[in-house]
Amino acid sequence: MRVFVTGPRGFVGARIMDELGRDAIPAPSLRTVDEEGIRRIVDDAQPDLIIHTAAVSDISTCEKDPGESRRANVEIPVWLARTGVKCVMFSTDQVYSGCDGEGPYSEEETAPSNLYSRHKLEMEQRTLDINPDTVHLRATWMYDMPRYGVPNRGNFLVNMLRQADISFSSTQHRAVTYVREVSGLIRQAALLPGGAYNYGSENTLTMLETAKWLRDRLDLPVKIQDAGPRHHLWMDCSKIKKQGIHFCNTIDGLEKCIRDYSL
Ligand SMILES: NC(=O)c1ccc[n+]([C@@H]2O[C@H](COP(=O)([O-])OP(=O)(O)OC[C@H]3O[C@@H](n4cnc5c(N)ncnc54)[C@H](OP(=O)(O)O)[C@@H]3O)[C@@H](O)[C@H]2O)c1
Repeated sequence: MRVFVTGPRGFVGARIMDELGRDAIPAPSLRTVDEEGIRRIVDDAQPDLIIHTAAVSDISTCEKDPGESRRANVEIPVWLARTGVKCVMFSTDQVYSGCDGEGPYSEEETAPSNLYSRHKLEMEQRTLDINPDTVHLRATWMYDMPRYGVPNRGNFLVNMLRQADISFSSTQHRAVTYVREVSGLIRQAALLPGGAYNYGSENTLTMLETAKWLRDRLDLPVKIQDAGPRHHLWMDCSKIKKQGIHFCNTIDGLEKCIRDYSL
């Protein structure tokens, strides 16, 4: 199987490249290509499947440059869907950022509250209109230890290991997911019927409780403040479980990562 991976040098894409090994075809950067360019690149690669991870994935960067957010997060996915090749695309738990209910949220309860998530939801709807076979994976905040040769953005684990003071809210429910689980389950995700799926760990703890658990587990010197908005991003992952895809819960995922790296 030939799998064309966009964003192959990014945080998620690099791990997916590792997971797929010889099946993976790395896409060139899509930062300056137009629709014709995408069609040409995909025609040359002749893939059976596209896994699309390239994006402007930072919320504040999207707010500062709405035009680039639209191009990267809506137009490029639309152009990829129009090639007719089955696509698995990364979306985000931020589509629940404006939800009023207590959660956990199922796939239908979306209420995006920032430009990034509004563009991601538009991406889902427009690409599904073009090709109903498109799969959208709504990912949580993901973590891993830094990887050689891959840009290292802050993530929950690295922030906890590095920072002296950190804030998490006792009123925020959300999960964090070990990115190696995300990449490890990607072949199964590629077999899903078209649609949007909550794709990651679940978590019954608040972010404050989760952070305190990790601090105590690793005996970290970090000081944790209870601060920040309620802003639940709590996903109900039963839809994907019914399809046979099971993630560890957040604490078990952290335990797995701690074991993998002998932390
Ligand atoms: N990281 C998370 O915790 C998280 C959480 C929820 C959802 N997601 C979603 O998961 C996917 C992968 O996330 P990630 O953290 O791996 O992303 P990332 O590392 O920030 O970016 C992935 C790749 O996107 C490409 N890219 C950046 N700006 C671009 C632009 N303006 N136009 C076209 N391509 C651009 C870059 O590839 P080149 O340098 O080759 O151009 C980059 O390596 C994204 O769709 C993201 O929205 C991520």
